[in-house]
Amino acid sequence: MAPFLLLELLNRLVILALLLGSSSFCDSGKWVWFNVSESFRLLFFRVIPYQVILINGQFPGPQLDVVTNDNLVLNLINKLDVPFLLTWNGIKQRKNSWQDGVLGTNCPIPPGSNYTYNFQPKDQIGSFTYFPSTGFHRAAGGYGAINVYQRPRIPVPYATPDGDFTLLVGDWYKTGHKQALQASLDSGKSLPFPDGVLINGHSQATFSGDQATLSAGKTYKFRVSNVGLKNTLNFRIQGHTMKLIEVEGSHVVQNMYDSLDVHVGQSVNVLVTLNQAPKDYYIVASTRFTPKKLVASGVLHYTNSKTPVSGPLPAEPSYQLHGSMEQARTYRWNLTANAARPNPQGSFHYGKITTTKTIVLSNSAPLINGKQRYAVNGVSYVNADTPLKLADYFNIPGVFSTSSLQTVPNGGAATVATSVIPTSLHDFIEVVFQNDENAMQSWHLDGYDFWVVGFGSGQWAPAKRSTYNLVDALTRHTTQVYPNSWTAILVSLDNQGMWNMRSAIWERQYLGQQFYLRVWSAVQSLANEYFIPTNALLCGKAVGKSH
Ligand SMILES: *[C@@H]1O[C@H](CO)[C@@H](O)[C@H](O)[C@H]1NC(C)=O
Ligand SMILES: *[C@@H]1O[C@H](CO)[C@@H](O)[C@H](O)[C@H]1NC(C)=O
Ligand SMILES: *[C@@H]1O[C@H](CO)[C@@H](O)[C@H](O)[C@H]1NC(C)=O
Repeated sequence: MAPFLLLELLNRLVILALLLGSSSFCDSGKWVWFNVSESFRLLFFRVIPYQVILINGQFPGPQLDVVTNDNLVLNLINKLDVPFLLTWNGIKQRKNSWQDGVLGTNCPIPPGSNYTYNFQPKDQIGSFTYFPSTGFHRAAGGYGAINVYQRPRIPVPYATPDGDFTLLVGDWYKTGHKQALQASLDSGKSLPFPDGVLINGHSQATFSGDQATLSAGKTYKFRVSNVGLKNTLNFRIQGHTMKLIEVEGSHVVQNMYDSLDVHVGQSVNVLVTLNQAPKDYYIVASTRFTPKKLVASGVLHYTNSKTPVSGPLPAEPSYQLHGSMEQARTYRWNLTANAARPNPQGSFHYGKITTTKTIVLSNSAPLINGKQRYAVNGVSYVNADTPLKLADYFNIPGVFSTSSLQTVPNGGAATVATSVIPTSLHDFIEVVFQNDENAMQSWHLDGYDFWVVGFGSGQWAPAKRSTYNLVDALTRHTTQVYPNSWTAILVSLDNQGMWNMRSAIWERQYLGQQFYLRVWSAVQSLANEYFIPTNALLCGKAVGKSH
């Protein structure tokens, strides 16, 4: 075992100190300032400083606590020396892809300047995240939590927890700061194995003294998001079971789990009842499906505990890929529970709607001009100099292509393009992610959540539709696709705009495994989509246009 790994296994981190350390603000009708800067932080062993992206001086960035339908006015000041954008992972930006914060919708914010995002978590509830979408900045942090609470008088299907904690977990590379990793990807190399795992920015930390305490007999909510770059993480708490209550905005059937696999880009919420002897227990996040294991641990500290954590860390579960797929199938909608709106989730009978189109997306890792790229249906995405959304709005030709990416794999040689799949507003589509690679995949769609109706091994075929869950599949914004397997989703295209569909595995996204879904209607109406924001930044071929 590598020495640093051993040290990481030995690390002690009192979770409450971390949780209390992240400030939260915002209560209603909210002005938020995000000052983005760069500095050095001690992350491992508390000896060597690593370069990280800070928001308001914090890593992870401030936790945004908001209520369903709050209007956020978030002024981001870019104090880095490179252009920058944040995107709001899982916030649906209803009628408002203008605020999505990816390079296909927004011009990057130049160094030393600012952009004020205006957006609303419309009809949403749950745990989401934000992170940098430009360059490979996400490898240097800049991420944080967005917790969307229910409005007054909207019930949730569980008793109010005695406390509510946010855990951002992710793999981390210390091989160099962001430019080094980015340069390595640019030169055509794929990412190496990471160097560690962080929980709220710490892998090894010792805190002492005055932590708030968790009392025996009480029940706490833990919001766990995988903000890492590449690896699925398994989350577990020594001696305790977890009751799953919410997944990316869906209230689920409340099953008990000893451990949960959280794939890159995903979020889960659990309740944990402190029903064990009052002592300290490990909280663990560790890499999955990798020959070598990386582990971060924290400590769950009961009031009056005089017994520090002891014994080995709780072991990784014995289930592997197949068991993980089985676990994923147990995530189901509670049909009678509501989500952010008062009507029951199950009143939308998604399984009875006829699909208007099937899109099969196959991921691959081709070499193009001798360099490692990643592709979907043989097309590796390259950013344009002009956001596609602006090109569409100003009718600027030649920025993107709606014909390069076919909606079924065609087996041809890999190419590069700024690829867009055209669709119509109100289409109800089936998307099959076919993963013929021997690597874990995670797919995300901006602007939407979707029903994850099926997981299976090998090749998808139309006959596999008979295995779909058409009754109580949950909706979420990011789904895993197991190696040499497929995942099927259904999407109700009710949100007009230009929406990024991407691998959440960040080197794959960076090296081309993404495209945009243009959800369009001939009738241009405010009922379907908001006007271009008056402060929209203009760049590329949109410079000098008036809005
Ligand atoms: C952001 O920086 C500005 C100066 O550029 C300062 O006035 C402001 O207080 C800072 N805000 C936060 C939240 O750190
Ligand atoms: C930059 O911030 C100012 C407020 O300090 C705001 O009025 C302006 O609209 C912001 N710029 C953009 C492009 O959003
Ligand atoms: C589903 O939600 C309802 C309504 O809140 C609740 O009474 C019920 O216990 C939940 N069922 C499960 C299986 O979680």
